[in-house]
Amino acid sequence: MLGKFSKLFGIRPKKFLGVDIGSSSVRLVEISRKGELYNLDNYGDIGLEHFNSKPFRSFKKNSVDLSKKEIAENILKIVKEAEIETKDVCFSIPDFGSFFTSITLPIMDEDEIPQAVKYQARPYIPLSLEDVVLDWSVIEGETSKTELKILVVAIPNDVINHYRGVAELAMLNLKFLEPEVFSLARSITRTGENKGVVGLIEMGATSTTCSVLENDIVKISHSFSIAGKELTEIISRSLNIDYAEAEEVKRREGLLPKDELKNSKGTRELLLPLIGSILEETKKAFRNFYVQEGKEVKKVVIAGGLSMMPGLKEFLAVEIKKPVVIADPFLGIQASATLTNTLKNIGPYYGVAIGLALKGLE
Ligand SMILES: Nc1ncnc2c1ncn2[C@@H]1O[C@H](COP(=O)(O)OP(=O)(O)OP(=O)(O)O)[C@@H](O)[C@H]1O
Ligand SMILES: [Mg+2]
Repeated sequence: MLGKFSKLFGIRPKKFLGVDIGSSSVRLVEISRKGELYNLDNYGDIGLEHFNSKPFRSFKKNSVDLSKKEIAENILKIVKEAEIETKDVCFSIPDFGSFFTSITLPIMDEDEIPQAVKYQARPYIPLSLEDVVLDWSVIEGETSKTELKILVVAIPNDVINHYRGVAELAMLNLKFLEPEVFSLARSITRTGENKGVVGLIEMGATSTTCSVLENDIVKISHSFSIAGKELTEIISRSLNIDYAEAEEVKRREGLLPKDELKNSKGTRELLLPLIGSILEETKKAFRNFYVQEGKEVKKVVIAGGLSMMPGLKEFLAVEIKKPVVIADPFLGIQASATLTNTLKNIGPYYGVAIGLALKGLE
């Protein structure tokens, strides 16, 4: 009855699908929107069959290597199992495969920006402009009135073509593509709980991205390749156990101190050097932002699978000397009450996919 009514008045909810293709997992979220209300319709994910098999995606020089057929098959599987209806989709691009730079432009009108961005950003992009698509957003200033600070992202054409190929194989209409950090930023700032200057650390299986957001806008972003997989590998090598078992040990012990654990394998000590490197990169990003803008990060949000590692949040809070929270991107999205706990637990894994679905509903 309600369906009929809403169709009559043209307020049929809009639906959109977000697909996060990570190196170790593919995640889908379908969200619908009715006015200002967002509803979680369906979600699902598939991880690599074997922990140490070929990743869904990896990086070659300036490009990305996708197991297109396998990814598409997995997307289709999730679509079927989760009974996802919409074909309109937004994919994310690894931050690692895109180039971020910020530039300052003199006072100018809106229509002059594209040309000026091209000209100014050229020296910072390691590829020819013909081989990339440039995307940008004004991060400070007002067109025609003040100087403009612009965040420019260059995405290699080659990368875009790979993702188009996946969409085609999965029989989806690819409407948008955006770097992961923008999707994640959208999903953690939606309900206004992360205002001000906020640090964001996304730690996945093969890459970590540290960013600084100011009032919901990504101001700087830096990616590097120390992440969950490397932590598992070091446990596996040091304890001489296979990858799957090392993965279990990592998830159980993480950075918890020895005396808090029964039968401790001493994992904390094995992981501290790598976690120390992540910490150094993070501090560097925050310091760069401080040098550029004179503002300090007030709070840090962590996301991605590794953010769930026991003891990591507490460790980072002590080292960075700021409050650290785990992302809760399902916040403010309506869902069945029986899912409340589940969504809180899986939220950190779904931040990117949620932000992608939200993009399509903007
Ligand atoms: N509870 C946990 N404790 C420790 N590590 C965890 C936990 N849950 C997931 N991880 C780790 O998080 C990583 C996977 O995170 P995620 O799913 O965000 O990565 P991804 O999106 O596939 O990879 P990437 O974004 O780097 O391409 C794996 O290394 C996994 O071991
Ligand atoms: Mg990821």
